[in-house]
Amino acid sequence: MDGTVEIRVNGSWERVVAGCTVAAALLNLGHMVLRRSVQGEGRSALCGMGVCFECRVRIDGVPGRRACMEPVREGMDVVAGD
Ligand code: FES
Repeated sequence: MDGTVEIRVNGSWERVVAGCTVAAALLNLGHMVLRRSVQGEGRSALCGMGVCFECRVRIDGVPGRRACMEPVREGMDVVAGD
């Protein structure tokens, strides 16, 4: 183990820091837009502690998961910005 795990983000495999949240991993990779509002505006993590729901992404096919509350796992499939 080198302290990283590999996750798939919007179809691309990325190596990220093990133990961090999905939100931290995505922001560190430069994915600033985690979801879209009904009007199509880009939204991103705001509170970082599970309250605002602005960080919702699709994880392993399940929509609406709060990225700030989910630790990364090897092989996780994340879709952000949809
Ligand atoms: S950033 Fe607020 S719930 Fe995730």
